Amino acid sequence: MNYEVRNCIDAGTEYCPCHLAAANECIICSQLSGKSFCDCINWKGTCILQEYKSNGNTPKAQRKSYNSQIEEKQLLEKNILKLKIKVPRKLAQDLACPGSYIFIRKTNTMQFYDTPISIMHVDLDNNIISVAIEIRGIKTKTILDLNKGDKILVRGPFWNGIFGLKNIYQCRNSKAVIAARGIGLAPMVPVIEKLIANNNEIVLIIDKTPFSEIMSEEYIKEFNLDIQYMKIIEKGDLTEVFKSYVNSLIKERSFSLLHCSGADILSYKATKEFQDKIKLSCCNNAKMCCGEGVCGSCSSRYKGHVVKRLCKIQCEPNNLFEGRRLI
Ligand code: SF4
Ligand code: FES
Repeated sequence: MNYEVRNCIDAGTEYCPCHLAAANECIICSQLSGKSFCDCINWKGTCILQEYKSNGNTPKAQRKSYNSQIEEKQLLEKNILKLKIKVPRKLAQDLACPGSYIFIRKTNTMQFYDTPISIMHVDLDNNIISVAIEIRGIKTKTILDLNKGDKILVRGPFWNGIFGLKNIYQCRNSKAVIAARGIGLAPMVPVIEKLIANNNEIVLIIDKTPFSEIMSEEYIKEFNLDIQYMKIIEKGDLTEVFKSYVNSLIKERSFSLLHCSGADILSYKATKEFQDKIKLSCCNNAKMCCGEGVCGSCSSRYKGHVVKRLCKIQCEPNNLFEGRRLI
């Protein structure tokens, strides 16, 4: 039977129960989502209802903004900015896993300026996080004004930057192929680090389009990866060369995971093409604003009047696209 395994990325963490529990909208707990019986869908080692009651029937405090310092600024090309930011030790530790992201903004701006940015690398010896930012709109342009030594507000940690996280963690002593395109070359680094730590062989397929630089080169050259350069997407579809290469990895070399790090069109087309052949994971490209399941900017609608808050829900790539309403 093909049913959806849905999870909440924050369930069982120090940020759970959250505001959704207070509004009877919890993703996991049946009793905190309007039902009168106990039937939680994914046990995370803690009873969310019990936590909620012992916290005085209120949500736990949500993430804070930390006043942090820019240690390094590098404009890689006209619209790609790389920042290294010194953050508190606990925050650095919490961000050292695949799918982590933060909100950053200039110190004297309103919270509306919070910009969601994926973590590219965490240096745990020095508590420095690296991010690559594509300068596109009003929020990112204000970050471009900042320089080395300036203060920057960092809100986090958030973890739902990747769908199919379970497949990444379960890939051990095996083989994984990573297809990365454009700005997706940044958030793929923690995925590579995790897969290598779990003793996997990795093939990395890189399509730099629309950039000329590889913003994560500093980190990927540390690993002995099999790197292939090719066009992954052309005219809105997967290229034949990419499809036949991945198919050959699956059939001839028994690769067990395909991770897509790029725009939704890449994840969508790759899911349609490969979902019956290999385990999948992909980037979460939803527009994030609060990251806490409250504002609704990340919500997607699905058939049957289902609404998913993509900052909180952790699911597999096929469940992300199946039945999704685009208008
Ligand atoms: S929605 Fe997630 S974080 Fe919020 S109370 Fe439920 S399980 Fe916890
Ligand atoms: S980003 Fe606000 S609800 Fe998801």
